[in-house]
Amino acid sequence: MDTNPFHEDDLDLRNRPESCTLVIFGATGDLTHRKLIPALYNLAAAGELPAGVRVVGFARRPKTDDEFRAGLEELNRKVSRHSHHDDLWRQFSRTISYHASEFQDAAGYDALRQRLEALEAEGASGNRLFYLASAPEYFDDILAGLRQAGLNRPRDRGWSRIVVEKPFGTDLPSARRLNRIVAETFPERDTYRIDHYLGKETAQNIMVLRFANALFELLWNNRCIEQVQITCAEHLGMEGGRGGYYDTAGALRDMVQNHLLQLLSLIAMEPPADLTADGVRDEKVKVLKCLRPIRGAAAVAENVVRAQYTSGNVDGQPVVGYRREDRVNPGSLTESYVALRIMIDNWRWEGVPFYIRMGKRLPKKATEISIHFKEAPRVLFNALNAANGATAGNVLVIRIQPNEGISLGMRSKLPGPAARLQPVKMDFDYQTSFGRSGPEAYERLLLDAMAGDATLFARDDEVEQAWAFIDEIEHAWHQSPEPPPMADYQAGSWGPKEADLLLKKLNHQWRRL
Ligand code: BG6
Repeated sequence: MDTNPFHEDDLDLRNRPESCTLVIFGATGDLTHRKLIPALYNLAAAGELPAGVRVVGFARRPKTDDEFRAGLEELNRKVSRHSHHDDLWRQFSRTISYHASEFQDAAGYDALRQRLEALEAEGASGNRLFYLASAPEYFDDILAGLRQAGLNRPRDRGWSRIVVEKPFGTDLPSARRLNRIVAETFPERDTYRIDHYLGKETAQNIMVLRFANALFELLWNNRCIEQVQITCAEHLGMEGGRGGYYDTAGALRDMVQNHLLQLLSLIAMEPPADLTADGVRDEKVKVLKCLRPIRGAAAVAENVVRAQYTSGNVDGQPVVGYRREDRVNPGSLTESYVALRIMIDNWRWEGVPFYIRMGKRLPKKATEISIHFKEAPRVLFNALNAANGATAGNVLVIRIQPNEGISLGMRSKLPGPAARLQPVKMDFDYQTSFGRSGPEAYERLLLDAMAGDATLFARDDEVEQAWAFIDEIEHAWHQSPEPPPMADYQAGSWGPKEADLLLKKLNHQWRRL
């Protein structure tokens, strides 16, 4: 008798993506060219894009459909995961058109509505997916335009949904305000706040690793885990004019508030009641509510390190320091690196530090999470281990990117007559096991929005909880009379020495990537 309650066919519990017209606001920008269109093209190439999807690019610059498509094609050739085939591109790009309008111009939205109705009369699906990919200062205008033209209203003929790109606010008050305006326009169930880290295959695998295997979950608590580290290293600096935005944000707002706190939530959450969007998000919000606030300049100085890179070498090339980057204020007080020690005040994690570090201009691009288990009792081999310097103990490493995979470090006896221990590891990597590393995050997220599945998108309260935690730190940095210092690190190094000292306080050290 088959005792396995799961059958292969049952295992994909997701709704199916439905055809729709995708309206992208800010269609002439980088995100559309580098991420959204290549993601749609890849889906089309893989036969996964629902039939009949149309794309309308909405932006201010006057352009013809052909000019718009030509610009998209140029970048798609460079960045798409599937190789660019002229025939496929021609077929795919026929579904793309361009709509020029100012974001503040009510007539532009009426014209958009007429255009959508015309497409629908020609046979396009009645479902409409609006995507805010413009600079965030236009979000209010676009939402107001959609409301005035009645484009947000549910109709008999299909759904209307909104996808909101990051940054979702710059602090708690602005995020609350944006949540309110979005809620006046679309109900929460039709709102999809993008955090592309959640679309990464390896981030999705965290829940599977934890809740589809009995082994790890039994050890997943403060009795067995000593500390957790989340590292996001980038070798890039402020190329391509990025300094303009980055200098107003900094590492804490740009990456920690969203992507890295999301990873932390997935690692720390309790098993959800079910795999529905709210089942999962309820548990992630609980983690965020349990983060011990880092409040006041003294606590921030004790638990957080901020730093800027000075000139150095990356990939063998000399690079300038942060303050000399294009579009960065020469007197800038924006951090290009941040390291934090975060405590989670709940039963499972009491006393376990979660360290997060993120930096630009580090030696390489890599994101990983390492779970450091407690040492075995010191009695038998550990004395020996200390004597011959084999230090690494049981560390579970989740490589988010690149070389996606999971490894488990342990100690082994070195073969031979001498009693010597050596660190070794068991390794699983996507390439060997599956022959591939999974789709780009935006491919998965676009399909999920078309399927009405918000599990991999941030909910309103999740975003606000994360900002509440981040705001305290920003406040101490920028508004206290004696703000915690700004450290520095050489471009191409692994960050400031202050970040090493942060871990040393509890006798820990950063894992070498
Ligand atoms: C973005 C940040 O959200 O994520 C960038 O704004 C960062 O500063 C990027 O470089 C990293 O994404 P990924 O997928 O390349 O790790």
